[in-house]
Amino acid sequence: MEKIVALCKRRGFVFQNSEIYGGVNGIWDLGPLGVALSNNIKKEWWNSIVTSRDDVVGLDSSILSSPKVWEASGHLKSFTDPLIECKICHERFRTDHKKEIEEHGKTHDKSQWTDVKHFNLMFKTFLGPIEDDKNKTYLRPETAQGIFINFENVLATTRVKIPFGIAQIGKGFRNEITTGNFLFRVREFEMMELEFFTEPGTDNKWFDYWRKERLKWYLSLGIKKENIKLVDLPKEDIAHYSKGTSEIWYNWPFMGFGELEGIANRGDYDLTQHSKFSAKELSYFNEESKKRFIPYVIEPSVGVGRTILAFLIDSYSEEKDRVVLKLHPKLSPIKAAVFPLLANKLPLSKMARDIYDNLKKSIKESIVFDDRGNIGKRYYSQDEIGTPFCITVDFQSLEDQTVTVRDRDTMKQKRVSAKELSTFLKNKLD
Ligand code: GAP
Repeated sequence: MEKIVALCKRRGFVFQNSEIYGGVNGIWDLGPLGVALSNNIKKEWWNSIVTSRDDVVGLDSSILSSPKVWEASGHLKSFTDPLIECKICHERFRTDHKKEIEEHGKTHDKSQWTDVKHFNLMFKTFLGPIEDDKNKTYLRPETAQGIFINFENVLATTRVKIPFGIAQIGKGFRNEITTGNFLFRVREFEMMELEFFTEPGTDNKWFDYWRKERLKWYLSLGIKKENIKLVDLPKEDIAHYSKGTSEIWYNWPFMGFGELEGIANRGDYDLTQHSKFSAKELSYFNEESKKRFIPYVIEPSVGVGRTILAFLIDSYSEEKDRVVLKLHPKLSPIKAAVFPLLANKLPLSKMARDIYDNLKKSIKESIVFDDRGNIGKRYYSQDEIGTPFCITVDFQSLEDQTVTVRDRDTMKQKRVSAKELSTFLKNKLD
């Protein structure tokens, strides 16, 4: 982990927020390579959940909403963690984080700890200039509620028929008692959430379907089979809204297998609650069966940051004299780097520049040009950030218009005609 955190900082994947002021716990910024990786992950998720299907539509709801939303959803009452404070050092702990508590008890006696309090994780704020209870609202802790409160709007404006889904990517905020393990547990994070509406009685079938689909997605993007698994949670560990939850667990270096993504069967909980609180009937009329019902909802939900962390850990490898991020090419922040073998050699530099300009236009992906230092250093630098292909223009290129294409993982080089380079790369990147 230390090596990955250092690499993220050194190469501009992730920066500590407000670093110049000493940093803030549990808040991170994405640097130039981090935002590219994050965008690629989101693109793949959106493509697999929305664009490639005909039964899911997208949505982008707001972070702020009526406080009634959080009353109805149960978050105001139940989105809490059990908290104790050590009266000696005033450090705070979650009582369900047993290991941390045991560790602390070794030096600070348990008799000096406060009783358990339930701490609500939602960040509070105010709508408008007057900071009183009437204007109080919350930053959303999940994007899902934005989908439920727009359920009727989507039904009225699209041609979706049950079973169908509404997907959303957006920020969520949680005032976690303890943060840590880099991007794993933070206070501000992006979430990728799908609410899939089904006819009651078919919900278990769809629950099983989405559990399998989501696991396949990680495997298709290169997560190693031995590092990922599906786990069904016992009833006592599931959220207040859930009828049943499975999680996709990743083998984290700091804790072993633990939650990467949650897949919940939320039943009709949310639409029923919002119907009650808004006095609007949020139901679905099935034209074929002539039945009206409140749909049951299956929800795969994952944090973008946690996904970034899993992909970084899984792809990180050290080989003899190099560090390589063996990211799936679809996720790599930079798809190809173009080098002239030597800098300041005019015909080489010019040909390399022309190839770079053409590739940028034809591939429309992130391509970089580099002529600093020697070729070995340039390869090292690209391997470390997961660039799958390095293209070198050498003296032979000037004679026969071919270039070398080096594969990041095998380090093998292949000569490819400069003219066919764009098609060659497009095929590889697909
Ligand atoms: N709408 C469902 C929901 O919010 P959750 O299990 O509380 O479910 C979903 O959160 C996912 O969001 C988790 O599986 C995890 O990937 C991510 N997540 C939750 N809390 C997080 C935190 N404090 N920091 C980073 N990611 C978090």
